[in-house]
Amino acid sequence: MSASPTVSAASPAAAAAARPGDGALIRARGVTKVYQQGKIEVPALRGVDLDVHPREFVVLAGASGSGKSTLLNLVGALDHPTAGEILVAGRDVTHLSRAKAARFRLASLGFVFQAYNLVPVLTCYENAEYTLALAGVAREERERLVMPLLERVGLGDMRDRKPHELSGGQQQRIAVVRAIASRPALVLADEPTANLDSETSGNLLDLMLELNAEHGTTFVFASHDPDLIARARRVVRLRDGRIESDGLSEAEAPRA
Ligand SMILES: Nc1ncnc2c1ncn2[C@@H]1O[C@H](COP(=O)(O)OP(=O)(O)O)[C@@H](O)[C@H]1O
Ligand SMILES: [Mg+2]
Repeated sequence: MSASPTVSAASPAAAAAARPGDGALIRARGVTKVYQQGKIEVPALRGVDLDVHPREFVVLAGASGSGKSTLLNLVGALDHPTAGEILVAGRDVTHLSRAKAARFRLASLGFVFQAYNLVPVLTCYENAEYTLALAGVAREERERLVMPLLERVGLGDMRDRKPHELSGGQQQRIAVVRAIASRPALVLADEPTANLDSETSGNLLDLMLELNAEHGTTFVFASHDPDLIARARRVVRLRDGRIESDGLSEAEAPRA
């Protein structure tokens, strides 16, 4: 794979300039989540306030169990918080019904699941075009949007394979293509590079940074991948369900 030039995330100033009014793309206020496991209550989030503005490229970092996936799932309306409020593009997604949540996701965001969630009976290409097909995009247009992305992530010649014929890393890349194929304004991705070698993961990051710079796509990742963290502009660190720190990544921070 040829090395592509390093693209960096849109600057916070550019992000601020792109704001419509003071409109945050994601606004979370006092978000708590307590899972019920039988009689045991498992607190996963303990009062999270977070604003993410259009064009930001944000990593949610923190140890395993700190609440990263829970927060992404709540923003993606895959689950309801126990308390608090979450607005996405001004819309309250806190208490959406299942059907409304599904329509909201289809219209507004791409989601890369930690477990990929590919459909086993569909080919690589069919999985990648799945959300476009659901959204009613015509066949030729789907192909025009999907094939360059599959080629870009090194899977152009795998289009007719089924997920079980692919490695974990290849499945992960299809899940990413599926999430970005409709060019959504917001992409949420849970550990999108967890099963990739550093070259493949660098390549995928280049693609996401390009979408961020050229299309203004907002990305929010959960990750503890040091390469990803180093190239994000903003790192929100979670610890035990709370935001421990929120600021420039170490690579971007001015040296003392
Ligand atoms: N469906 C669930 N049921 C019960 N507990 C859960 C569930 N999902 C996550 N948890 C718990 O919530 C906490 C936060 O988990 P998670 O959001 O998955 O963290 P991370 O993604 O940072 O590893 C952990 O203690 C985890 O065990
Ligand atoms: Mg997780």
